[in-house]
Amino acid sequence: MHAFLLSVHVLSVILWMGGVGFVTTVFFPAMAKTEDSLQKVLLFQKIEGRFAKQARAFIILAGVTGFALLFETGRWGDLFTSSGVDVTLMVFVWTLFSLVLLFEKRLFSYLFGGKKDLSPDRVFRFLAIFHWVLLVLGLAAAAAGVWVGHG
Ligand code: HEM
Repeated sequence: MHAFLLSVHVLSVILWMGGVGFVTTVFFPAMAKTEDSLQKVLLFQKIEGRFAKQARAFIILAGVTGFALLFETGRWGDLFTSSGVDVTLMVFVWTLFSLVLLFEKRLFSYLFGGKKDLSPDRVFRFLAIFHWVLLVLGLAAAAAGVWVGHG
């Protein structure tokens, strides 16, 4: 059972972080080169909207298998301790992504519509940096998992 849960967990994380990596390192830089602001916003809504749907499914799968693994390995007690840096970071990253996706619509309507003084270019620059932060945290959680498990 452990190997099955771990495989599904790691595959969900690969697909999820692969998507975050693509959006961060390919999609945002390509969009930065698009001159027309309206085209930029439409492109963003199309790609990010599709990606968010996929990410939601992978986050649910990674979360369900992650909590099942915590239960199965008895590592609940490791959370928020020095021997549980890996699982603590995983839960932190998972919660952060879940909150962002949960409040995504409100966040976007605030960024793109609420504040009139924010130009789309500034919003996209902020979103590009924010995606880098999410990507680095996600990779750090994955590296910590492998490090603690096999180091
Ligand atoms: C609710 C969120 C999560 C929980 C509760 C959770 C929990 C766990 C647990 C208990 C293990 C097994 C550790 C062991 O065998 O001692 C594991 C493995 C792993 N997790 Fe998570 N995880 C979560 C989210 C994530 C995230 C967000 C990532 C990376 C972005 C991640 C990456 C990994 C990796 C790569 C492994 C395999 C480590 C290895 O054995 O090589 N997990 N997770």
